[in-house]
Amino acid sequence: MSDALVISNTKNFVQDSLKDAEGGHDWFHILRVYTNAKHLLKSETANSFIVEVASLLHDIADSKFHGGDEEIGPQKARVFLETQTIEQKDLEHVIKIIENVSYKGGHSHSDFHSKELEIVQDADRLDALGAIGIARTFNFGGFKNNPIYDPSVPAHPEQSKKDYKKSNSPTINHFYEKLLLLKDKMNTNSAKAIAEKRHNYMVSYLDQFYKEWHGEL
Ligand code: ADP
Ligand code: NI
Repeated sequence: MSDALVISNTKNFVQDSLKDAEGGHDWFHILRVYTNAKHLLKSETANSFIVEVASLLHDIADSKFHGGDEEIGPQKARVFLETQTIEQKDLEHVIKIIENVSYKGGHSHSDFHSKELEIVQDADRLDALGAIGIARTFNFGGFKNNPIYDPSVPAHPEQSKKDYKKSNSPTINHFYEKLLLLKDKMNTNSAKAIAEKRHNYMVSYLDQFYKEWHGEL
């Protein structure tokens, strides 16, 4: 089994596993992250096979949709990879990436680092920014039946938890809690440059949002 065949099998497995996923964490999210990762690989020195397989498997079972269980995703990925021709050390590396890719830094007990993790993490974070990032965020807010915006709840990180449980705070607040912080968390220089552009787009989106909210024509 060649590396190309393992990658192709992984695509089929992920596409099938995510057929009922929420719109912001579906197969098309995976495909964008995979494309982002391949772009970043052009200017980084890393093992491209590991980056490709890990970017495809990184959200195979997101804990948000599995009662907070952070073990399901890595476990599902491991069971799949054991059916493929992949060296054990590469398999373990892919699993470590899946465990650590999340925004919060993944498992608090882990201090795992690798160039391959940095690339997959940047590729995933880029998809949380810009026009796609905005679409995903409102889709997720709608999925949770959250309000779009509530002017009585300041959209500022420290104050936003006041009247809502964090997971049900207005979607606009998520920009301040996470999206606008991401550009400073990029690992690679090429991701930093893309993030900067997408960040500025979101800032002007928010500016327009508030103008329209307040009745500007
Ligand atoms: P990660 O993949 O780094 O763990 P998440 O899965 O938490 O990040 O977030 C992925 C995307 O899901 C975010 O970029 C955002 O679009 C959406 N999302 C997550 N949490 C919320 C929330 N509370 N409100 C709105 N959107 C959210
Ligand atoms: Ni993701």
